[in-house]
Amino acid sequence: MQIAIDGPAGSGKTSVARALAKRFGCLLINTGAMYRAVALALSQGLKLSEIQIEVCPDERIILNGQDVTERLYTPEMDELASQTAARPEVRAFLIAQQRVLAQHRDVVMEGRDIGSVVLPTADVKLYLDASPEERARRRCRERPGQSYEEVLAQLRARDARDSQGFGRLQITPETIVIHTNGRPLDEIIAEAVQAVATALQRRSTSGKLSG
Ligand code: DC
Repeated sequence: MQIAIDGPAGSGKTSVARALAKRFGCLLINTGAMYRAVALALSQGLKLSEIQIEVCPDERIILNGQDVTERLYTPEMDELASQTAARPEVRAFLIAQQRVLAQHRDVVMEGRDIGSVVLPTADVKLYLDASPEERARRRCRERPGQSYEEVLAQLRARDARDSQGFGRLQITPETIVIHTNGRPLDEIIAEAVQAVATALQRRSTSGKLSG
C-alpha cells in the first residue's frame, strides 16, 4: 500500500503522515529529510555518488553510517535543502531511491512531488494546504527563537523557489485536498484517516491495491 502526502512547508504533513503510518502500519518516509541529508552531505564536500542515506522506522536519518537527524532542522538547512532540491541531478538521485523504498512494503511517503512524480500510482494521494501566515505561526511554535516576520519571509521565499521547476507542488486530479487553516490537528488527522480508509475500501473492492 502506498499513501502519498504532499503539501508546502508547515502544512502539517509530517504530523499527519506520522499518524497515518501508525494507524495503517506503514513505514513513514519523509522525503524532505532525504533532501536535507543530501544538502548536508554536499555541503561537506561529498559527491552524489558517495552519498548513502538510510531512513529508519523511527524516522532517524543515517548519512553514510552516521545519524545526522539532529543536524537537519535548522534555518540554515531549510535554506540549503531548498536550494539543493532545485537541482535536477539531486532530484533524479533521490526519486530513484524513494521508489525503491516504496517497493514491496507499505509506506506513507510525504513530500512535494510524491503523488505527481515519485509514486504516481499511489493508492491514496493527499494534499495538505494552509495559508503562509498559518504555516509561519506553526513553524514559530516548532522552532522558538525566530520572529514571526522572519519565519514568514523565509517561508514565502522557499515557497517561491519550491513552486518552480522539477519539484514544484502539483495537485493531480485524483488527489484529496485537506484544508488545515485554523483547525486542530486531531480533526485534520481524523479527516485524513477517513480519506485513506474510504480510498482503500474503494480500491480494494475494485482490486487495484498496489504493492
Ligand atoms: O519538507 P522539508 O521542509 O523538510 O523539505 C526540505 C526541502 O526539500 C524543501 O525546500 C522542499 C524540498 N523537497 C522537495 O523539493 N521535494 C520533496 N519531495 C521533499 C522536499
